[in-house]
Amino acid sequence: MKAFVKTKYGGPEVLQLEEVELPTLKDDHLLVKVYATAANPADWHLLRGKPFFARFTSGLFKPKEKIPGADFAGIVVAKGSSLTSFEVGDHVVGGTLLGGAFAEFISVPASICARFSKEISFEQMASLPIAGLTAFQALLTHGKRKQGETVLINGAAGGVGHFAVQIAKAYGAIVTGVCSGRNADFVKSLGADKVIPYDTENIHLHNGKYDLVLDVNGNLTHEDFNRMGRRGVLIGFTTMKHMFSTLFRKAFSKFPLIQFTVTVNTADLQTLATMVEEGKIKPQIEKIFSSSEIPEAIGYIEAMRTRGKVVMKWLDDLIG
Ligand SMILES: NC(=O)c1ccc[n+]([C@@H]2O[C@H](COP(=O)([O-])OP(=O)(O)OC[C@H]3O[C@@H](n4cnc5c(N)ncnc54)[C@H](OP(=O)(O)O)[C@@H]3O)[C@@H](O)[C@H]2O)c1
Repeated sequence: MKAFVKTKYGGPEVLQLEEVELPTLKDDHLLVKVYATAANPADWHLLRGKPFFARFTSGLFKPKEKIPGADFAGIVVAKGSSLTSFEVGDHVVGGTLLGGAFAEFISVPASICARFSKEISFEQMASLPIAGLTAFQALLTHGKRKQGETVLINGAAGGVGHFAVQIAKAYGAIVTGVCSGRNADFVKSLGADKVIPYDTENIHLHNGKYDLVLDVNGNLTHEDFNRMGRRGVLIGFTTMKHMFSTLFRKAFSKFPLIQFTVTVNTADLQTLATMVEEGKIKPQIEKIFSSSEIPEAIGYIEAMRTRGKVVMKWLDDLIG
């Protein structure tokens, strides 16, 4: 099969399209033919090996996992002998921070996949796993949001943020989104009740009070969380210095602030996939690249100005 492979740390140019062996199918795995995949900031962090401390898990001198890519949507072509819950031919979506999705086929535990209707496109579903689950778990698992609460979403226009606005609204929250002025109408169109354009209003001086503050962008200080929120969830990353300073302050404060890393599981992903099928949330795709342009797609999202998601589609001429 064809796959994008990295053998050293570096920019998108280190990704090479190569012919590699089909991944092994384990007892609890699904072998999925990938039709679409999506780009996440984690892809370029892992590609560049930055921040450096992440290399203690991803490989100190060179990456342990050769094929990058987390999000995928495709069709099950084989299933492990212990599986009863999926069938060959099912359309499935999944996500894995262990990589492997920038390939024609991926073999993954069924426990990180969910089935979806054939009416929904692979591109729409591929955009869902990492960004959608991060938003979902930030709001429901860690944020413990309750019906009718007010939620501030700082960084409401990107992959995670645009899902967070829609999921929060679907669960009955009153939502204020923070984004650049150029994305204000976009964030309103997602259902936000109010938008704060950070380029005309300084969020670090904002005096609103919210039940829950989600920092998707990762630039809020501990004082910002304290001033604006009753509970906080820290999702994004700007600089090591900023993250350490926020977490250091958290360690000596009673303010309920949680930082977490998304976990992919069938139950949460199935809930999200069903919400898409029922029209309760709609993945917004800014740009679709072909799979041969995966390095360009990763380069594109590194600017951290994505509106919604960027998706890459495996084309038949490449697969052929
Ligand atoms: N904790 C986890 O498990 C987890 C999981 C997924 C992602 N993340 C992290 O979450 C962050 C967002 O990920 P993503 O996938 O949503 O990224 P993305 O799709 O690249 O979106 C980035 C967004 O940031 C916005 N932005 C840039 N500067 C901003 C500012 N000063 N204030 C508010 N918004 C700003 C941009 O909107 P404008 O153009 O309007 O500024 C853009 O839409 C990243 O740091 C990522 O690494 C964490």
